[in-house]
Amino acid sequence: MDTLLEIKRLQKEKNAVILAHFYQIPEIQDIADFVGDSLDLSRKSADTDADIIVFAGVNFMAETAKILSPEKKVLIPDREAGCSLADSCPPDEFRKFRDKYPDHIVVSYVNTTAEIKAMTDICCTSTNAVEIIESIPREQKIIFAPDRNLGNYLNRITGRNMVVWDGACHVHEEFSLERIMKLKGEFPDAKLISHPECQNPILIASDFIGSTSALLKFTGSDDSKEYIVATESGILHQMKKQNPGKLFMPAPPLDSTCGCSDCIFMKMHTVKKVYNSLNEEKFEVDVEPEIREKAVIPIKRMLEVSR
Ligand code: 13P
Ligand code: SF4
Repeated sequence: MDTLLEIKRLQKEKNAVILAHFYQIPEIQDIADFVGDSLDLSRKSADTDADIIVFAGVNFMAETAKILSPEKKVLIPDREAGCSLADSCPPDEFRKFRDKYPDHIVVSYVNTTAEIKAMTDICCTSTNAVEIIESIPREQKIIFAPDRNLGNYLNRITGRNMVVWDGACHVHEEFSLERIMKLKGEFPDAKLISHPECQNPILIASDFIGSTSALLKFTGSDDSKEYIVATESGILHQMKKQNPGKLFMPAPPLDSTCGCSDCIFMKMHTVKKVYNSLNEEKFEVDVEPEIREKAVIPIKRMLEVSR
């Protein structure tokens, strides 16, 4: 059986769309109908006419798709594809934390569970975070959750004093400044480009900071030839495809078996699992109606502010 042809046939037969995040393995990015960052993927899932969405990303992204399109069947190829950042903000603890600041509104990064979104006033992604924060009156106090590195970075660049939840992502916390500097010693012309979920010392040393799509856009417009990329290594696939003459190196983490920076959750999906997902219509993502009705509000607010 030719798996790729079968995927195409099933897609047509079932009116299904495959959405993939930039952190997916190259083979999945190449078969997807759309590859993007978390913001564009949420826009796509709200806009698609498909009956089935196969979401090659992590659970919070598939949940966001279901929240925006409850009438559609949303499938995830591996149901264990969670997110260490979303898990670093358990709903019960967050509720207690939020209740300590009754005059604050909650801005949460989309990398959260649906329950956290249900306690949120407006969501953001790393692409639109500055725009979202700046849309809120300056005198309004804000709680930002769940990523401490992104929250602190936003405080620095917007001049706000948001109360930041102490969460982090296992991939972005792991980069080693020492090893990055060693690599820079070998490639002195290489620019360091980083996702804002990285720790502050990495951000300070960076030539450019941005979301996955912002990093990709930067490498297309910038005239350097070499880059050290401090985010999940899946993004290098699009960078190399779009810039064949340039060299892209994954920023080295402190310790890892692959010597690179894979998100174990994003990398759970395989082409075979995408095929099984489409063929057997598994694993279906669902969000309780009570939670969905509350969670859809901050996501829609975000999409309205950030057109
Ligand atoms: P983007 O919003 O930049 O796509 O990032 C999502 C993510 O999971 C970062 O770790
Ligand atoms: Fe979550 Fe980090 Fe993986 Fe992004 S890279 S999906 S924040 S665990």
